[in-house]
Amino acid sequence: MAVDSGIRIVLPGFANTQAEAIDQLLSIEPAEVPDTTKLGPSDVVVRVRSASISFVDFIMMTGQYQHMASPPYVPGLEFSGEIAWTGSEVRNFSVGDKVISDFMTVGPRSKGAYQQSGAWSSFAVAPENGLYPLPSGFSFAQGCSFLGSYETAYFALVKRAKLQAGERVLITGASGASGMAMVQIARILGAEVIVTGRSSRKLEAVLSAGADHAIQLDGDNTGSLASTLRAQVKTITNGAGVDAVIDTVGGAIGDAALRTLKFEGRFVIVGWASNVSESGGRQTFEPDRLPTNIMQMKCLQVMGSPMVIYSMANRAWRAKQIAQVTAWAEEGLLHPHVSHSFRAEDFREAANAKLRGEVVGSCVINF
Ligand SMILES: NC(=O)c1ccc[n+]([C@@H]2O[C@H](COP(=O)([O-])OP(=O)(O)OC[C@H]3O[C@@H](n4cnc5c(N)ncnc54)[C@H](OP(=O)(O)O)[C@@H]3O)[C@@H](O)[C@H]2O)c1
Repeated sequence: MAVDSGIRIVLPGFANTQAEAIDQLLSIEPAEVPDTTKLGPSDVVVRVRSASISFVDFIMMTGQYQHMASPPYVPGLEFSGEIAWTGSEVRNFSVGDKVISDFMTVGPRSKGAYQQSGAWSSFAVAPENGLYPLPSGFSFAQGCSFLGSYETAYFALVKRAKLQAGERVLITGASGASGMAMVQIARILGAEVIVTGRSSRKLEAVLSAGADHAIQLDGDNTGSLASTLRAQVKTITNGAGVDAVIDTVGGAIGDAALRTLKFEGRFVIVGWASNVSESGGRQTFEPDRLPTNIMQMKCLQVMGSPMVIYSMANRAWRAKQIAQVTAWAEEGLLHPHVSHSFRAEDFREAANAKLRGEVVGSCVINF
């Protein structure tokens, strides 16, 4: 393999806060080119070009995620790059091929032998079945911003909400990595898309990505937030309300969004981006509470959407999910939005931009 030097970013131990992880604990180390004499026949070495910095990376580094790697570890759920070496039994890839990683098989979100191969490193080792071809027309930055978010969106919209053409869907936190993917997939499904967010600048980008209507929410008082959102959704839907809500934010915004549903509407819980404890550790976490009276009187369906947990347990479903989002990508229907891109050496600047809420879609570092 062509040998060159590299770097990796290492978390030595769980942080008390996200800021502490970024500004104090993470460090740059030289990355050794993997010793291929120690790798298996189905292994592949990837020269990483881009890696995403995600919400999940942050909550994992502070010990708040449901699945965590053991420190010290290299964070980063997804990478893209070029194949630098292949084992003797690798059949589907050759040196030079452009690939993306499967975060359920490689890196800190995976459970097996490749957990230490985090994305924030110049080199990664993956099994052949832990990689997919970079979709045609995608940049490396888009490639590492694809599977996690688009699978999450597909699972929430198709498997859980069963969204139909002509229906109306409300997506909270739509400027996020998952939210931007949801807007694009909801449009493919033929739905009318209403989004919420706190920043007019970011909502402009969400509208450009295909949302039909944007509602800016800047208060956090549950009462006025709920009436503002319900009134605006009523105006947009001529009083009808929405068929489905996909909630990535939770808290007061999730509560308010639930109240915009029509009778027999569906509420899909994807995440709770607004409900992250400043201090790390699961013991600090207070789960959201949603109003059972609204669920009862409006005959709602309220459902979880744990894409990773479901897909890890149901490989047949996952294969279908990946096949569909990949096919849409190849058709040119999906465009991961990357608002921020940095040199890997500037990872602190990148992570802080994400932490400050400046990012729309994805933030990446490049090696
Ligand atoms: N169920 C699953 O399988 C699955 C998979 C991936 C992620 N998730 C979860 O989904 C959630 C979103 O993930 P993501 O990767 O899309 O995150 P992200 O890229 O950080 O986006 C989250 C969005 O939520 C909004 N937001 C953030 N903090 C907020 C706050 N305090 N109050 C109100 N709005 C806030 C922001 O939009 P504005 O600034 O525009 O308001 C932001 O763009 C997280 O909870 C994550 O754990 C679930």
